[in-house]
Amino acid sequence: MPERWYKQAVVYSLDVETFQDSDGDGIGDLRGLINRLDYLARLGVTCLWLNPIHPTPNRDDGYDVTDFYGVDPRIGSLGDFVELVHQCENRGLRLMIDLVVNHTSNEHPWFQSARGNPDSPYRDWYVWSKAEPANKDEGEVFPGYQRGTWSFDEEAGLWYHHRFYDFQPDLNWSNPEVREEIGRVVAFWLQLGVSGFRMDAAPFVIEEIHPDSADRRFVFEWLNDLHDHIAWRRGDGIMLAEANVDRALIPEYFGPRGNRIQMLFNFLVNPRIFLALARSSAAPLVTAIESSPPIPEQCGWATFLRNHDEVDLSRLQESERADVFDAFGPDQNMQLYGRGIRRRLAPMLGNDRRRIELAYVLQFTLPGTPVLRYGEEIGMGDDLSLPQRDSIRTPMQWSDAPQAGFTSSDKPVRPLVAEGDCGYPRVNVTAQRADPGSLLSWFERMLRSLRECPEFGIGQATVLDPKNDAVLAVRFDCPVGTIVALTNLVDEECTVDLSPQPGTGRKPLDVFANRPYEPGPTDLSAVELDGWGYRWIRLARPIAPG
Ligand code: NOJ
Repeated sequence: MPERWYKQAVVYSLDVETFQDSDGDGIGDLRGLINRLDYLARLGVTCLWLNPIHPTPNRDDGYDVTDFYGVDPRIGSLGDFVELVHQCENRGLRLMIDLVVNHTSNEHPWFQSARGNPDSPYRDWYVWSKAEPANKDEGEVFPGYQRGTWSFDEEAGLWYHHRFYDFQPDLNWSNPEVREEIGRVVAFWLQLGVSGFRMDAAPFVIEEIHPDSADRRFVFEWLNDLHDHIAWRRGDGIMLAEANVDRALIPEYFGPRGNRIQMLFNFLVNPRIFLALARSSAAPLVTAIESSPPIPEQCGWATFLRNHDEVDLSRLQESERADVFDAFGPDQNMQLYGRGIRRRLAPMLGNDRRRIELAYVLQFTLPGTPVLRYGEEIGMGDDLSLPQRDSIRTPMQWSDAPQAGFTSSDKPVRPLVAEGDCGYPRVNVTAQRADPGSLLSWFERMLRSLRECPEFGIGQATVLDPKNDAVLAVRFDCPVGTIVALTNLVDEECTVDLSPQPGTGRKPLDVFANRPYEPGPTDLSAVELDGWGYRWIRLARPIAPG
């Protein structure tokens, strides 16, 4: 089994701007993040993924870049970034950054030059049409908030394509010069020490756009080129791509020999976790795992519950989506783009500690590498008075000091959640650090246990049949051992029979569980589970003891 760091990682995603301010200007910054690295190391995560850090007019929270080689001066300098890399290395933490190269900001000097001058060397770096495209209103990503996908630019006298907002003109990836430039961008950050990139909007990056055709053609070979380029510059560098695509297309993204993208966010599983929780049934997850396409050995899934966007339910059937909306986002104001929920997990689950644990245990024991969003480890809430996805992008709650210790300014970049059950006077790191029974302490224990279980990251997953629709039981086999993970999705205790189970023959050992259980019979013929309980049972460990 070749060693692949990303298959045994725990990724923590954060936006520098809302994590920790160090200079009192109200905006989180790189120095603030450096000061919090010990917290992250103690939590037990192994890799940080930073949302965009580049200069930006900030009209899409940094996903509108004006300089791919720079750091947004509001959060620091390149010098601060290199110091961050160094301090991460000191703690054995890896660093990934967002690679937002489907588009630029319309304020990027490339677009400014391209629109203003037909002879500009950057003219062909964007996607233009002389005639008004017939499909100009189709294919919007943010329905209700975005005006079409082609807009007329007065200065150029041409239409330009934008898959996202009109201030995010798409780069023309068919132009080899664009691909070469992105190669330089990637090389630059690898040289500065990042271990990889979260590739934004991958399907749109590799999509060839023609103004007079609605046919979609994807050029997967561009991903091979990027893969090889990264591998040449940094052997263990990776891409983790956002590609919310049909199941049938997924193997194309990994590549026939695993030579395109190493990791994909699992958008097939994410909405089905919510469906499983809403229906108290393991069936949606059983189907999702069993129907996952086979993937090359060196590739892997990244699982997530909450990210910086809405929970996207568009892959569910209408009745399934309705059940999830009813359970977790019943009010219109909790929903977004007609397809998703703009809430954090704790309020979605009524701040019920047992259900929050259950949800995270479910995610962390599904095949793949878990990705955790900042603040979820303490059960942060949302602010539905903020527009669109800003509701879940409020600053980190460090303490009960003014502005939660995020900043000494009284004008934080975004308001803190101050009121209610999730407000920072009640939910904050300092209080939870002092309390061994807190959600944060539970996360620390869970992550420590997870890191003792490489089976979840590298093992072969087999769904078992516990003959109980509310229980998900998955067995993970790999050369270093075998683990069975059980989660009970109802608030009713049960005993399940998993016998016969190859590899048993000694007392099953709970590596992690919602409480200490009696070991039960060796052949797993009677495994007890509390209501909303969970157990990770180690069956065999040929190499290490325990
Ligand atoms: C996907 C990102 O996750 C989202 O936050 C962003 O708005 C769009 N891509 C555009 O870059």
